[in-house]
Amino acid sequence: MQVIQTVAELRTALAGQTRTAFVPTMGNLHAGHASLVTLAKQHGTPVVASIFVNPLQFGADEDYARYPRSLDADCERLAAAGCDLVFAPAAADLYPVPQTTTVRVAESLASDLCGASRPGHFDGVATVVLKLFNLVQPQVAVFGKKDFQQWHVIRALVQQFNLPVNIVAGVTLRDADGLALSSRNGYLDAAERLRAPQLYQALAAGVDAIQAGERDYAQLTATTRRHLNMAGWRVDYIALRDADTLAEPGPASTRLVMLGAAWLGRTRLIDNIDFDLPACKS
Ligand code: PAJ
Repeated sequence: MQVIQTVAELRTALAGQTRTAFVPTMGNLHAGHASLVTLAKQHGTPVVASIFVNPLQFGADEDYARYPRSLDADCERLAAAGCDLVFAPAAADLYPVPQTTTVRVAESLASDLCGASRPGHFDGVATVVLKLFNLVQPQVAVFGKKDFQQWHVIRALVQQFNLPVNIVAGVTLRDADGLALSSRNGYLDAAERLRAPQLYQALAAGVDAIQAGERDYAQLTATTRRHLNMAGWRVDYIALRDADTLAEPGPASTRLVMLGAAWLGRTRLIDNIDFDLPACKS
């Protein structure tokens, strides 16, 4: 596996490739990231992963400075998963100072759900992903549904900027107790880690209720929110959406997604479950 840090070397290494599959990451990798590499291998070759903690997608009061950097361990994990090339640029090599041209995601998407408490976050994600796509020029790129709204932002970016990249979605890998694997789980202390699966459990209970016939989504999300707040979480949002459009569910919705973001101490966790809406019984 090649590890490349400069744009010039990357261009040379990938010249002439026509089936590149790409997995963008911010490092501190876990088995969820590795599963995206495995999926990417089914869709193209070479498989390229990027490791770059993107300053543009972090708010001023967020964890950019303390976001864990672990390049050596990450490269070992990527090599074991069958990755062919790692691109790990320095911020100075990727971003001119100042970056005067950026992608702006429309308010309807950028200020919704995670965007409501993370202003500018999705602009930063879309900008770096567009830059990485231009550098790697992949035919396929793999994103995790763990970051469900991000996946929608990227699909819109590709469609609306006419990028010749096929976006493939990977399912969320979880620990045995249900907690979605996340680079931020490492921030949890032992007591918080024990309680952390409550977010997934709360979403799963909501999904079960809908599959059993519950259709009062406002009531259901309010109950879930209250339940988590009472268990000591600080909930950002609990929402039910159409999984294909991320809009409020309507009569035509056939797949839904229940999403949540909540703070446990100093750590903000997100999770979601997408599922088929059972057809109405007549
Ligand atoms: P990062 O948080 O490192 O995630 C990289 C990819 O791994 C994303 O597509 C994410 O959805 C996926 N992922 C995270 N946890 C997962 C899990 N438990 N199971 C399966 N996939 C999982 O998302 C980013 O980085 C950045 O915003 C990025 C797209 C790289 C732009 O900077």
